[in-house]
Amino acid sequence: MDINKLKVLFTEEQIQNKIKEMAEEMNSFYNGEEVYAICVLKGAVMFAVDLVKHFNMPLKMEFIRLSSYNGGTSTSGKVNAVDISLPDLNRKNVLIIEDIVDTGLTAKFLLDFIGCNFHTKSTKFCSLLDKKITRVADVDADYYGFEVDDKFLIGYGLDYDGLYRNLKYIGYMEKTDLE
Ligand code: IMP
Ligand code: MG
Repeated sequence: MDINKLKVLFTEEQIQNKIKEMAEEMNSFYNGEEVYAICVLKGAVMFAVDLVKHFNMPLKMEFIRLSSYNGGTSTSGKVNAVDISLPDLNRKNVLIIEDIVDTGLTAKFLLDFIGCNFHTKSTKFCSLLDKKITRVADVDADYYGFEVDDKFLIGYGLDYDGLYRNLKYIGYMEKTDLE
């Protein structure tokens, strides 16, 4: 893959403005109640840390690690829970923070996992990006930043074979430029 062929989809400024907007919406929903934010590693790390800086409620952060990619550019269709240790979430407001919802299998896995193990006060799913057209599982994010096309996205947490998560912007590759 030639990283020089990466085209900018969302600039740092667009991302940060969108995150501020999303946080304001969530601040008014939670209205000062305590929240457990669950960041899904590794992809959501950039988004999660930037989002929570705008929150004004008492907040606890948890990190879990899931994976569904085999290192390439498409999901294996199977979600692996690499580390899903969580505290007692009964009667808590739970906010799952993801980078992108693609097939929706990861989101469904997590929502089912939390639903089966805890009686939360509320469970919300937020994702910076939403690839609605590639959805397989019947799930929708409660909050999302941008709807995106079926392109392979890189940067701001999203990787290509482990690389480029550190970019401040989100870029895309044409599928033909990927291999
Ligand atoms: P899903 O289970 O198919 O919804 O995929 C969710 C996970 O796949 C996300 O949390 C990402 O880590 C990864 N993913 C999906 N689309 C992309 C992409 O365009 N670039 C990089 N990673 C992606
Ligand atoms: Mg992810």
